[in-house]
Amino acid sequence: FYVDKGNHRHFMQKEIYEQPEVLSHTLGAFVDMTTGRTRIPGGQTLDFSSVRRIALSACGTGYYAALVGRYYFERYARIPCDLDVASEFRYRESPLGDVDLALFVSQSGETADTLASLRYAKGEGLRIASVVNVQESTIARESDVVLPTLAGPEIGVASTKAFTCQLISLAALAIHAGVARGVISPERELELTRSLAEVPRLANEALALEDTVEALSREMATKRHALFLGRGFSFPLAMEGALKLKEISYIHAEGYAAGELKHGPIALIDDTMPVVVIAPHDRSFEKTMSNMQEVAARGGRIILFTDAKGAASAGSDMASTVILPDMPEILTPIVYAIPLQMLAYHTAVQMGTDVDQPRNLAKSVTVE
Ligand code: G6P
Repeated sequence: FYVDKGNHRHFMQKEIYEQPEVLSHTLGAFVDMTTGRTRIPGGQTLDFSSVRRIALSACGTGYYAALVGRYYFERYARIPCDLDVASEFRYRESPLGDVDLALFVSQSGETADTLASLRYAKGEGLRIASVVNVQESTIARESDVVLPTLAGPEIGVASTKAFTCQLISLAALAIHAGVARGVISPERELELTRSLAEVPRLANEALALEDTVEALSREMATKRHALFLGRGFSFPLAMEGALKLKEISYIHAEGYAAGELKHGPIALIDDTMPVVVIAPHDRSFEKTMSNMQEVAARGGRIILFTDAKGAASAGSDMASTVILPDMPEILTPIVYAIPLQMLAYHTAVQMGTDVDQPRNLAKSVTVE
């Protein structure tokens, strides 16, 4: 096939902008938009009512999507989850105990370690489900249940639209699991799927922050290091935000659970250190704010991503604040991913790196 960049300077930027549309398509596979009920795509069945434990496994950005997935399954379906990077899962020979479903997340469906993990889990007799973007891929073919993301071909090496489509699929799946287990009432299911249906609009509002984020990238492009902090649903995002930045701008970036600040990264803070804090006004907000104050007290340059309520109660310690729309908690990882992608993108553009083909990286890692 031939895919072009349209009016965009890079595939990555084009793919960032496709998100409202592809998120809407992907959601349509997992939710019947007329009834608001969740479903397993393509008439397949995946019965969560008897699942005792899920083992999640993936690589790279897919791993961070799986980390959000674990939070979703635990919160909305009360299913305990194990999570590993695939290169560890395949060799760890962990006793699988009461795990009866293995769930893999892969854009390409060809990543060597993820595929090897799938085969290992299959050999152990587990049921295999995969969230995959390329439906003709090996991982899709070898899975019992294929959960398709409809992101379309992703050309930029740094994953953007595939990530958010993985998140919305996992959110819908966790709701579906919650209903099957009686944890979520039919009314609550409708409320949650109505929230998911807001994602395309909210993603557009996040895209409208591009100029604000581009302005921030000018300072970021002068740095050698950056720290990303978040708690709860925003912790995986801190890691994904740091991964995006390091992949394409080559700035050394670390994502940390905000609560771990005192256990190491605080030693790095001085008045040159940029600290990106991801903190929607959710149940973790106050705790994250106290970590942020510790950063501010040491002169760290805080870039806060929050909403209006968060901005109003955050005080004035920030170098910059980016205000996102208000949204239900389940949506924050999906929507907050977008300004983080734009921050990495514009920083890389400022630095003149090869955004779509960053050095040393491959779109699909098919060898160990
Ligand atoms: C490579 C890509 C990443 C991707 C990872 C896992 O590192 O550069 O963007 O997240 O592989 O790939 P998969 O296709 O399995 O999601």
